[in-house]
Amino acid sequence: MKIGILTSGGDCPGLNAVIRAIVRKCDQLGVEAFGIMNGWKGIFDESYKPLNLNNIAGIINKGGTILGTARFSPFQEKNGEETLVHKISKEGFDCIIAIGGEGSLHIAHKAQELGINVVGVPKTIDNDIWGTDYTFGFDTAVGIATEAIDRLHSTAESHHRIMILEVMGRHAGWIALYSGIAGGADVVIIPEVKSKISDVIEILKSRYKRGKIFSIIVIAEGATFSKEELDTSKKQSHFDDFGRERLGGIGNFLAEEVERITGFETRATILGHVQRGGVPSAFDRILGTRLGIYSAEMAAEKKFGRMAVLKGDKVTDIPISDSVGKLKTVDMEMYEIAQVFFK
Ligand code: F6P
Repeated sequence: MKIGILTSGGDCPGLNAVIRAIVRKCDQLGVEAFGIMNGWKGIFDESYKPLNLNNIAGIINKGGTILGTARFSPFQEKNGEETLVHKISKEGFDCIIAIGGEGSLHIAHKAQELGINVVGVPKTIDNDIWGTDYTFGFDTAVGIATEAIDRLHSTAESHHRIMILEVMGRHAGWIALYSGIAGGADVVIIPEVKSKISDVIEILKSRYKRGKIFSIIVIAEGATFSKEELDTSKKQSHFDDFGRERLGGIGNFLAEEVERITGFETRATILGHVQRGGVPSAFDRILGTRLGIYSAEMAAEKKFGRMAVLKGDKVTDIPISDSVGKLKTVDMEMYEIAQVFFK
């Protein structure tokens, strides 16, 4: 059996742990493993690399992906479907293990429908993939955001300022909520809840009255306010190669508004891609390793069209079709419980 492994979409810490685990398991099972470079694009470019115990050694602690990645959809290319099927059969791949986020798994699902054997592995710092309790990358990103809050705390306190931290997560507020709780933020604003600037201001003022003359606000990049409260319509929109809007910058808008209304000195930090880079946490290495081993077993057992997921403490699998087109947004029960801190 010959399998191709690809990483597609935004990178995240833990990808190399998955690749390493797949190759180790394939070696044990007598399956030939090839890396496909730069996501689905590598198939079009016929850019492959044989993977073996030597070239996957020493990568578990490395950020990024040794295979490279791209936001490339075969289905946006001219004759994309035919090319994909033809090139995979030409190379003799019996299965493609696609490690990707929501957009990439959607491609995996369409490829499966064309008769290509696919096994999916969900990844993203955003933790928003439906059907899995956690994605690797998320824990590392939360750790980085929490450290940023810790650092902002001390300077906020010294200068008696409002500090706003904008974190990633697209249309899910997982990173904001988890880091906000872990870092002891005073306000957390997530896309799942329509927040009002007036409510945020109330919290800041009531803290001020209690003698708290500094505050930390964590806002998810995908959060929105009503147009009456915060008009961001002049912001120029940019789109990524999957056609999704590039987010980022709401923290700056909010900072201006908070300072204008309250007169409190306010600063914004956009944490950005720092959340995606660098050394993966132990949790992400272990989750990535477990998913890697499991997905290699799935390929060997011909469990195609399915993806490896974490359910509770167990790794199992679900049809990829169950997950695509849906988003796993923040657990509102947890958000409600955490309100005890956000005042
Ligand atoms: O999906 C992961 C993610 O980091 C999002 O949180 C963020 O909105 C987006 O990717 C950024 O993408 P890019 O790397 O293309 O700027």
